[in-house]
Amino acid sequence: MGGARARGPAKPGFDRVIKGDAREVLDRLPKQSVHLAVTSPPYNVKIPYLGYQDDLPPDAYLAWLREVWRSLYRVLVPGGRFVLNVAPTSIRDFRPIHHDLSRDLRELGYIMRTEIVWYKQTMGRRTAWGSWKSPSNPHIVPSWEYVLVFSKGQWKLPGDPATVDITAREFEKFSDGFWAIPPERRRQGHPAPFPEELIERIVKFYSYRGNVVLDMFGGTGTVAAVARRLGRHYLHIDTSSEYCALATERVRAAVPPADAWIPPPDGHPARRRRSEGAPTPDQRSRRVGRRSATDLASEGTSAFTVA
Ligand SMILES: C[S@@+](CC[C@H](N)C(=O)[O-])C[C@H]1O[C@@H](n2cnc3c(N)ncnc32)[C@H](O)[C@@H]1O
Repeated sequence: MGGARARGPAKPGFDRVIKGDAREVLDRLPKQSVHLAVTSPPYNVKIPYLGYQDDLPPDAYLAWLREVWRSLYRVLVPGGRFVLNVAPTSIRDFRPIHHDLSRDLRELGYIMRTEIVWYKQTMGRRTAWGSWKSPSNPHIVPSWEYVLVFSKGQWKLPGDPATVDITAREFEKFSDGFWAIPPERRRQGHPAPFPEELIERIVKFYSYRGNVVLDMFGGTGTVAAVARRLGRHYLHIDTSSEYCALATERVRAAVPPADAWIPPPDGHPARRRRSEGAPTPDQRSRRVGRRSATDLASEGTSAFTVA
């Protein structure tokens, strides 16, 4: 689909769309190289993804994700954030899956920072009333999803104040943990893409410009495209070639801020390479505006990589 070609083995680095299994790819990334991971895993509710059976026994599902979270912990920088979006399960087979996931992540050592309620405003389309107008068996309709937020090791994420891009107005608005955002309507052949506004808020609130932002269940590339548009580096992982091709197209179309010089992240191998010829602050400010989408495109978005 989309004419994307698979090339060579997965290379560690960033600004890449990687077709592969989340855990296997995470295990090949450099340790402490990601500042923010944002993801929405398959919810185990029989959603028809291309090439993935979304129907594991509940314990096997949690055990699988637990290993992914374990692998993620190694690649997060100290203070790095993990933002996990998960929907309530179906009304009839209700399981408090967000409690199970929070427990597992805390047992693995993550600090749980908060829980944001993403209110999807979908009540207009409701059909499942249970016992209409009677207490015999009324249903609560899940019109929201959870956005669970964790940190690795410490609450603070060190960063250069010059790379903060959130405005006072945005900070005030996003720090209210009830986010009313409609679900994405342009599905692009995927059953469950993120709305861009949800990711914009998370990326701006929890990361600095120039940070590395990862989605290891990346789907159509919403996280990668938004991260790039906001002047962050991205890593996208998904098992589906079709979704990786879509993500590649979206990332190519995402234009980073014209005035953004995007520093390589602290401690990343690329920073060491560049530091041999790293710009002085003066040179850096002269480069502002010259670093274009073309520069970034040459860093890894020409085709997705197969792990
Ligand atoms: C809920 S969707 C993510 C959608 C994404 N947030 C977006 O905006 O398009 C989950 C994704 O996980 C992918 N997936 C399933 N198993 C995987 C695995 N083992 N490793 C990586 N990705 C996987 C599916 O192909 C699917 O695209």
